[in-house]
Amino acid sequence: MSYENQDVKPPLHSIEMLKAEHFNIVRACGEAKAMAQSLLRSEKVPAEALAAITRFFAEYVGERHRRKERDLLFPFIERDYGPEVLAASLRDHEEGCWWIRSLDQIARAYACGCGQSGKRWAETALRYVAMLEAQFEAEEHLLYPLAETAISPDEERTLSQAFEEVDNEADERLGYRAGKVAAA
Ligand SMILES: [Fe+2]
Repeated sequence: MSYENQDVKPPLHSIEMLKAEHFNIVRACGEAKAMAQSLLRSEKVPAEALAAITRFFAEYVGERHRRKERDLLFPFIERDYGPEVLAASLRDHEEGCWWIRSLDQIARAYACGCGQSGKRWAETALRYVAMLEAQFEAEEHLLYPLAETAISPDEERTLSQAFEEVDNEADERLGYRAGKVAAA
């Protein structure tokens, strides 16, 4: 599709990156919901599966995605539209960190075979996932369109680069790069 001679801006690469992350996160939410339903039916779910999905929420949602939005994207929106439009999403980001810490603690208790921890993880995960899904809906329908009008082409280039740096730092921190080097 060509955008030439049209009064329509092409989609910003940075926003497309964030939407792709939302897609990945929603897919993980589906897995978390399936695990939660199994736990609520008193079915056995491996402790490592709970730990792995909790780790994904901590590293991918609570760190990588949150840093891109809160630290890099939102300042452009605030500059043009003021802080009010960001209040709900910022609150959701903070609340999300709290939910992730709770999930992590409960997943550790579950790994130790602690009584009701499976059902508690399930209930916590279902509430967290519902909050995330509502947050993404609001970001994609309210905040991203504002960002697309606020950000200039030069700013977009800088922003996309900054996003890639966040990814590189996160990969290094998690040892993905070291793993690739070791495997080469
Ligand atoms: Fe987001």
